[in-house]
Amino acid sequence: MRRKFSLRLLAAVALTCTSVGAYAADDVKVGLMLPYSGTFAELGQNITNGFKLAIDQKGGKIAGRTIEYVELDDESAPAKANENANKLIRRDNVDVLVGTVHSGVALTMARVAKNTGALMIIPNAGANELTGALCSPNIFRASFSNWQAGYAVGALMAQKHKTAVSLAWNYAAGDEQTAGFKEAFEAGGGKVLKHLSLPFPNTEFQPLLTEIATLQPDAVYAFVAGAAQVKLTKDYEASGLKDKIPLYGAFLTEGTLEAQGSSAQGMLTALHYADGLDNPKNQAFIEAYKKAHGETPDVFAVQGYDSAQLFIAGLEAVNGDTSKKEDMIRAMENAKLDSPRGPLSFSKSHNPVMNMYIREARGDQNVMVGIAVEALADPSPDCKR
Ligand code: PHB
Repeated sequence: MRRKFSLRLLAAVALTCTSVGAYAADDVKVGLMLPYSGTFAELGQNITNGFKLAIDQKGGKIAGRTIEYVELDDESAPAKANENANKLIRRDNVDVLVGTVHSGVALTMARVAKNTGALMIIPNAGANELTGALCSPNIFRASFSNWQAGYAVGALMAQKHKTAVSLAWNYAAGDEQTAGFKEAFEAGGGKVLKHLSLPFPNTEFQPLLTEIATLQPDAVYAFVAGAAQVKLTKDYEASGLKDKIPLYGAFLTEGTLEAQGSSAQGMLTALHYADGLDNPKNQAFIEAYKKAHGETPDVFAVQGYDSAQLFIAGLEAVNGDTSKKEDMIRAMENAKLDSPRGPLSFSKSHNPVMNMYIREARGDQNVMVGIAVEALADPSPDCKR
């Protein structure tokens, strides 16, 4: 009896060891370092939902290997980014680091990725440097650069207005998107009268709106994002400016139209996605996303989805063998993705080349009403590779 028991115990221990060992070797680990709290919480969640949808559509396995997730809330806190990224890469041994939303956090993540050689896919953060001075074979972006986002809005506004005031959070995303806006707006004959800024994630807009009322520009360009954009459009409407000085932005109405109510109706924005874009991939994506999550996807869900599509392209090219990193990177560089946003390819610096659409907020949709810039690529002059 005793002997039988210990044999059984031995067998159980052996079985556990084997299955633990096999599990670690067989699975591919995806580190999702995203904001799951604070101003950008919803963006982080939608990116996660989009990423997982693409993997689930493949049955949860790529090239025979099960995808496992390690999720970490980065809190949009640049000061915590170094420790968090190192934790995922060195302790959890993730095969790919996916993150993040906030440009400042992503810049630190990219430095860690560059130093360790870890594969990194950026599903939102626009910091120009990520595919500029910091560009690296192992770093890819599936979203946009801040220059691209600002430039498209500047091109749109130059078609309609002569003078503008800009308003943005004063960190990389606000500074760089505003610079892209100014470049295109002034190249198109416009003049930026003044730039107004406030710290991230501050939402005390009133003094800035008072200044706008005094300056009387033809239009206003703004970058704040996530929950803050709801407060901005509502404050803008409440201050009586909405019908006098039109407000523009890239992201200002994205994913938040319901909460914004009348304050966003009629607003024009320029971005690399529009609700209901008329292509078969987008129609299928919207349907699948609604079924999985009970809501309509936004650009952040699309960016998460495409981050996964890009990773899948790499993993399938090496038949799941992540040790063949160079081959994986080559396949990702050359990927031509069928994205819900339309055709998506990558420039030499690993940044998306894509159409930038003009959208009008109607009801709960950002409806495409034109193209601001076709196949826009970030020139990435600082990427020396
Ligand atoms: C950024 O920090 O790069 C950022 C954040 C939120 C956005 C866009 C860009 O909606």
